[in-house]
Amino acid sequence: MQVPLLDLKAQYATIKHEIQAAVSEVLESQKCIGGPKVTELEEQIAALSDCKYAVGASSGTDAILNSLMSLEIGIGDEVITTPFTFFATVGCIARTGAKPVFVDIDPRTFNINAELIESAVTERTKAIMPVHLFGQMDSMDPILDIANRHSLVIIEDAAQSITSTYKGRKAGSIGIAGCFSFFPSKNLGGVGDGGMIVTNNEGLYNRIKIMRNHGSSPKYYHKFVGGNFRLDPVQAAVLLVKLPHLDNWSVARRRNADFYNEKFTDTIVKTPYISPDCVSIYNQYVIRVPKRDELATYLKEKGIGCEIYYPRPMHVQECFKNLGYKKGDFPEAEKASEEVLALPVYPELTDQMKDYVANNILSFCD
Ligand SMILES: Cc1ncc(COP(=O)(O)O)c(C=O)c1O
Repeated sequence: MQVPLLDLKAQYATIKHEIQAAVSEVLESQKCIGGPKVTELEEQIAALSDCKYAVGASSGTDAILNSLMSLEIGIGDEVITTPFTFFATVGCIARTGAKPVFVDIDPRTFNINAELIESAVTERTKAIMPVHLFGQMDSMDPILDIANRHSLVIIEDAAQSITSTYKGRKAGSIGIAGCFSFFPSKNLGGVGDGGMIVTNNEGLYNRIKIMRNHGSSPKYYHKFVGGNFRLDPVQAAVLLVKLPHLDNWSVARRRNADFYNEKFTDTIVKTPYISPDCVSIYNQYVIRVPKRDELATYLKEKGIGCEIYYPRPMHVQECFKNLGYKKGDFPEAEKASEEVLALPVYPELTDQMKDYVANNILSFCD
């Protein structure tokens, strides 16, 4: 049996005709930049995220970059974030000229340890960027408290967590801005790159909209140096077809997670910890095991897809040498990078496939 980490063809087969019709509508209209599909998606994602405003972006990365630039974060500023994330979080901070400042993670959730944030705040700190990793939101109340006491803004990297909740509040709706990714492997994924920023702040919303068009308003009159951060209408059309299915897909992922959780009860496999404050959308189902690399090799031999998110934390990446961090600075992030393994959790998995995955893991661990 083959069980890939993700099977996009299985999902496509269920909505192929609607997607083709929606793409064809864009092609026939020849509205190739912006247009009604982008606007409609923005309205729907804003509503879905309990936010007043949403602005499409060319990727999750550009959503983050645009947010930082629109908040005028740059040289001389510091942004506190986690070292255990996808590169884009930290890459965007560095690209603005600001300094990424890391804080170790909570080993249970893999998210930033809110209790450690305050000691990293300096006079230069402008923002905190929590990352809602693998589909679960950060513990936002203590982060909000620190931000309020030090007059910092919060930019939520919600790339992996659209529609997930913390105490009933939606990902992206708590900070001044929330950034989503529509990378194909996300719960809501396009047929290429795409992203979105949500906010309740009207002034920021207006800046973000201008920033995505090279900072120009009106056209050819540039208020600030922006970029081409626009969402492609073909992606918007595809995402509008997928959006009504998103909740069901997340429910199916949660069901798959429950299935594995039960299988791994009372074994050495550490299953994901979900805080009672959170509802996870399980963009990834990530276990921790001692002989992780051997297990990954074994599973691949058995035709089971798995992946290490992330094998090297950000503070020890070559490109961030200049920040002055070294191995040992963030022991929980480092330990996680040696133990984590993401398993197939996509909605179309059958019970037979899940059994095959779980049984192979259990027989390896025996
Ligand atoms: C945590 C995190 N931040 C940012 C991004 C960047 O999103 P994109 O790949 O759409 O640029 C991703 C996507 O992979 C992500 O997982």
